Parts: sequence; C-alpha cells; structure tokens
Amino acid sequence: MLVLGIETTCDETAAAVVERGDDGEGRILANVVRSQIAEHAAFGGVVPEIAARAHVELLDGLIAAAMDEAGVEFAGLSGIAAAAGPGLIGGVIVGLTTAKAIALVHGLPLVAVNHLEAHALTPRLTGPLEFPYCLFLVSGGHTQIVAVCGVGDYVRLGTTVDDAVGEAFDKVAKLMGLAYPGGPQVERMAAMGDAMRFAFPRPMAGRKDANFSLSGLKTAVRQEAERIAPLSDADVADLCASFQAAVIDSVADRLDVGLAQFKARFGAPAALVAAGGVAANAALRAALQAVAARAQTGLILPPPALCTDNGAMIAWAGAERLALGLTDALDTAPRARWRLDETPPPAPLHNTRARF
Ligand code: KG4
Ligand code: ZN
Repeated sequence: MLVLGIETTCDETAAAVVERGDDGEGRILANVVRSQIAEHAAFGGVVPEIAARAHVELLDGLIAAAMDEAGVEFAGLSGIAAAAGPGLIGGVIVGLTTAKAIALVHGLPLVAVNHLEAHALTPRLTGPLEFPYCLFLVSGGHTQIVAVCGVGDYVRLGTTVDDAVGEAFDKVAKLMGLAYPGGPQVERMAAMGDAMRFAFPRPMAGRKDANFSLSGLKTAVRQEAERIAPLSDADVADLCASFQAAVIDSVADRLDVGLAQFKARFGAPAALVAAGGVAANAALRAALQAVAARAQTGLILPPPALCTDNGAMIAWAGAERLALGLTDALDTAPRARWRLDETPPPAPLHNTRARF
C-alpha cells in the first residue's frame, strides 16, 4: 500500500510517500518538509495568514518533489491522506483541498486525517508496536496524555487547562529576548544556568487528575524577571534553567498520574511514547526515561524529524486507516478544532459530491 501524505496545519508545509506492507510494516519512501520559520521569525510567532499563503505557494512543488524522490506516479498510489485538522484553518483548507483535487482527478480514495492521530500512530511506522500504548504529545499547540487503544480508538487521560508546554517555552523565550522558536534557545541557555536559583512552582503537582497547567509558571518567570531586571546573560541562563526544571518536574508528576490511570483502565501499556517538538528537549527525554522506569514500561522516542510536524506521519495514519477500509468523502470539511477522542471523523456537512 502506497500513500501520499500532506501536512499544512501549522507552519510546516510537508509531503511524503509511505509504504505499508501487508504485515503492517512501514517504510518512508520520501519525506519532504519545508519549515516556514523564516517567514514568521520577524513576528515572534506563527501568523496564520502568512502561513496559509506560504502553504499555497509551496505545496505543489513539495508534492512533486516527494513523488519524484519516491519514484511513484499518482496512478500508482493506493490513496491520498491530508491533515484535515486540528490547526490553523487557512492552512488546513490548502492541504485538504489539494488532496481532494488529486483524489478526484486520479480516482483515488481520500483519507482526512486528524493531525493528532498522526502523531499518535507514528511509533507504529518506525517499529512494531501493539496497542494499547500511552502517548505523551507535547508540542507548541498540544500537551496531552492519550491512551492509544487502536486506530481511531483514543482516550484522552490528561490535557493542558491553559498553555501548551512548547507555547510556554516560546513565551518565556520571547520574554528573555531569545529568538523564535524559543524552545531550543531556552534549552541552550538552561544548560548554562543554575536550576536551583529560582524556586518556581511545579504546576498541578500532586493533583489526582492528569491535567497540565503552564500559565501560572510563565507568569512567575515574568514577575521574577521584572523584579531582577535588567537581566544579565547569567540571569537569563538561571531563569531558563529554573523554568525548565519546573516544567520537567511538573510533566513527570503529571505522567506518573496519567500512567497510573492508564494501568487502572487498560492494563499495562505496551510503551510510553513521546511525540511533538518539545520531545526533542534532552532534559525532558532524560526525565521521561525515569518516568517510564517508574511505571515499569519501555520508552519510545521517535526520531526528532518524525516527532515534529511532517508528511510521513499523515501518510502513515492514512495507510493505517486505508488498511481498515476507512476512507472519507470528498466533501469532508476542514476543521480548526478536532479532539482526538472524537472519532470516527464527523459526517460531511453536505451530501453533494465533490464539494470544495
Ligand atoms: O511539534 P512542533 O514542531 O509543532 C507544533 O507545535 O505542532 O513543536 C514546536 C514546539 C515549539 O513550541 C518549540 O519551541 C518546541 O516545540 N521545541 C522545544 C524544543 N524544540 C522544539 N521546546 C523545548 N526544548 C526543545 N529543545
Ligand atoms: Zn503537530
């Protein structure tokens, strides 16, 4: 089974071709990603309108490059998968409409993939992994603990009540005058700082639910920074180190609770899996090892290029759905919001065929 996958929900334009064998084994034939960081850097964050325009300009070329690299013709594909949400609606429309056009012209099945489902199924692309497993999705837009019980069968155990972890890293970076995207910059500064200098709160620690909260911690960092301003490089490093340590302690506590809930409801997980851009953080990765060890389960960290947004994960989720006979109508609507546990995908808004 050969599937083209298209990703346009945020600030990465991506196209990939993935193969799925009858035994469920995955192989990436091409995975082309064009980050729009340069287009958004001047604004200190993603500007939805700029992102949508960039997706329009880039997507055709990226699809052609992916098909070329894979050595595949459209007629040779088994289906077209596109992220149909959740995300910035302008970008989602660009990717989904492009996928619909290709599907219509070449008579191929369309799979409208939930972007979060694609993150959730990625570890099954990189190696054999049985259900159920526990996913920690930690990116700029999402912070969730999810029980992945099967394709289309997800139970959200915890989520953030305010900011996502990556969003908090980005906001703290902006506060310190560090470049966008801030996560890697905060990690770099934190490596040089004293994590004990500032006693920031460990949000939600000790609570029985498995939810996250980041906005109070972010405010505590801002207030401390204002109190000791002007900031020296050492101050910035210490603030970053103390912030990162607080985030990681909070995350570890929340995951301990989430994994305990997982065991109580679904039995032992096949593994703890991390995905999303923040999963590239080395200090967090070390903490996740400890969390997994405490829960007596294995830890799977897909390679960073498959943790951040990419087309291969969309193509793979499409292949997993196609293998189960799950396809979507050409009038499937793009969605800005789409919870992972709201499955199967919603019915089309209208019954007219091929409505774009
Ligand atoms: O998954 P991703 O590429 O895009 C989405 O948000 O969907 O994640 C990007 C987020 C940004 O907030 C970025 O600052 C954060 O991941 N990030 C990191 C690191 N690398 C990326 N946060 C902390 N430490 C890092 N090393
Ligand atoms: Zn993502």
